[in-house]
Amino acid sequence: MINIAVLGAQWGDEGKGKIVDILSDKSDIVVRFQGGNNAGHTLVINGKKSILHLIPSGIFNKDTVCVIGNGVVVDPKILIEEIKTLQKGGVKVNSDNLKISLNAHTILPYHILLDSLREKKKIGTTGRGIGPAYEDKIARRGIRLGDLIVARTFEENVKDFIAEKNLLIEFYGGEKIDVDELIAEYTEYGEFLKDYICDTHEFLVNSAKEGKTFLFEGAQGTLLDIDHGTYPYVTSSNTVSGNIFSGSGMGYDSVDKIIGIVKAYTTRVGEGPFPTELKDATGDRIREQGGEFGSTTGRPRRCGWLDLVALKYAVNLNDINEIALTKLDVLDGLEEIKVCTSYKYNGEKFGYFNNSIDFLENVTPVYTTLKSWGKLNYNKFKKFSDLPEEVQAYVKFIEDFTERKVSIISTGPGREETIVSDSVWEV
Ligand code: GDP
Ligand code: IMO
Ligand code: MG
Repeated sequence: MINIAVLGAQWGDEGKGKIVDILSDKSDIVVRFQGGNNAGHTLVINGKKSILHLIPSGIFNKDTVCVIGNGVVVDPKILIEEIKTLQKGGVKVNSDNLKISLNAHTILPYHILLDSLREKKKIGTTGRGIGPAYEDKIARRGIRLGDLIVARTFEENVKDFIAEKNLLIEFYGGEKIDVDELIAEYTEYGEFLKDYICDTHEFLVNSAKEGKTFLFEGAQGTLLDIDHGTYPYVTSSNTVSGNIFSGSGMGYDSVDKIIGIVKAYTTRVGEGPFPTELKDATGDRIREQGGEFGSTTGRPRRCGWLDLVALKYAVNLNDINEIALTKLDVLDGLEEIKVCTSYKYNGEKFGYFNNSIDFLENVTPVYTTLKSWGKLNYNKFKKFSDLPEEVQAYVKFIEDFTERKVSIISTGPGREETIVSDSVWEV
């Protein structure tokens, strides 16, 4: 068995949760290493839908240990709700199969408040306090979970920071936060979580020595990366493969293969450039057929054709070895299917992505039109070669363009609606 990383290769919501759930069947440990509860990872198991925001998508496999690494920002209130909901549904969640890093940073009420107050300058964030929490982490005024569970340290730290936060909140026209209420509420959360919180770096390193296998679960997507994405319309963490190591405390030898999750078309939630966006009936149809409404905020997702120029950029940034192509079924019955193979900017042709906003807002995508297909019953296709010729041609076009193999094909939200090539488990 090998260690795999699953990363979003577009603007998020590619279907990472589903693929991690499937692969975690053969992995001992699933690790989240960045992001927070801005993520919404959907799993459909025996027809039952669950959306996970913080707990890794391996939790439904009872033998898999889930780790929330140091690079994640954790809203303790949401995490506790998620733990309790799973437990009520009969899913095993305890300190043996869920481990949370002492070094992960805490999202506090002032982060959430400032996130929404600052949204007047619109990024279209999820409003979960992600940006402000990462700001505090980098500015060295954050509160780590390890501080949250030591009542006196937590109280002292919050008291140090609150005056400045309330000043900012007032500046933006919000209502000041009562520090005593905050301390009382979050001290209780710390009490609840303390058995789960540990040195996850040490746990992971020891597990590697014991020969355990790992699956790293990315959140968001490559084009939302703080450095390489469409800044400032991005999230506040590095979503690319480079962050697996700093966000988990594992070295680069701990990953054998990187699988980029790619939706068969493109979606984006929130503001920011999107060259292949379809603001027409085809876009609406993809949205309806694909159920493209945010798993975290319920917002309608913007939809468009697959952008292979952007995908090639993602392949290079992450060193994606193989592709999992999801939501292929959503293209069923379209009159024509297009993929973007280059951009035109100021009359000049560009074959490579450039993340400047001016460029992306003013490019005209150059499309290749591929043969479409009708409504299919995917249950009868057990392997790639069973798929109709047009579907195979679509997949092959992506493989040829990216020079990467599509080793997983997903044709529905359920676990069983997936064609997984055996080569996934080979280096
Ligand atoms: P994630 O954030 O990358 O885990 O993706 P989301 O869960 O936010 O969004 C993916 C959505 O597509 C979810 O509603 C999934 O249940 C659904 N989904 C995943 N794979 C497929 C697929 O192959 N076909 C269809 N029709 N839906 C899928
Ligand atoms: P998953 O893991 C899609 C987007 C937001 C907004 C921008 C910044 O489910 O793929 P933030 O709250 O992070 O400061 O918002 O990033 N965004 C996502 N879009 N999927 C996600 O996660 C996202 N997480 C954040 O919509 O445009
Ligand atoms: Mg999502």
